[in-house]
Amino acid sequence: MSDPQHGKRLAAAAALEFVTEGMIVGVGTGSTVNLFIDALAARRDRIAGAVSSSEASTARLKAAGIEVLELNRTGDLELYVDGADETDEHRRLIKGGGAALTREKVVAAASRKFVCIVDDSKLVDVLGRFPLPVEVIPMARSYVARQLTRLGGQPVWRENVTTDNGNQILDVHGLRILDPPALETAINGIAGVVTVGLFAHRRADVVIIGGPTGIRRLE
Ligand code: 5RP
Repeated sequence: MSDPQHGKRLAAAAALEFVTEGMIVGVGTGSTVNLFIDALAARRDRIAGAVSSSEASTARLKAAGIEVLELNRTGDLELYVDGADETDEHRRLIKGGGAALTREKVVAAASRKFVCIVDDSKLVDVLGRFPLPVEVIPMARSYVARQLTRLGGQPVWRENVTTDNGNQILDVHGLRILDPPALETAINGIAGVVTVGLFAHRRADVVIIGGPTGIRRLE
């Protein structure tokens, strides 16, 4: 049985290879990214700063002495590093387990290279074993849930979670996502949906998978 923590640490350390002198680094959210931030702290004097995808990562970056910049001021980024809840061999992802999917999708879209860091438990043949997060505006929650049921899923409201944008999350169970770009488009088209945690249109450029025997890269 592989140790996810070990795999996450290896993947996070390997992502440092993509960080170059003077760069502004886009930074995702989650326990794997936290390890990346810890590793990045040792290089804080050699980067220009970071753009963060969540309040949680902003706090950790600042605590590490890394300047946090606004995406509205930086323009597009060279690099975005983030984790995932699932990846397939085609580098299409499910994200949003940490409820940060909307800002993550924005920073990923604004970045030329998206490097995803995961432990080997996250690699699946078909996306959907992990419930698919969907961020919705609060007044649309029940309507969106009915539409998601029509698409074949079983949405469950993640009660007691409010996103950094003041919205709510539905986790869609029971999906076997055979056509990720088509499902991403369909869910994005439901009125009241802010973001779906499928990253298929803007998938990762590189996925670094950490496991017991080292790292493997999908690219
Ligand atoms: C947060 C995310 C995370 O990247 C995802 O949940 C993976 O987290 P972890 O690295 O803790 O396993 O999408 O919204």
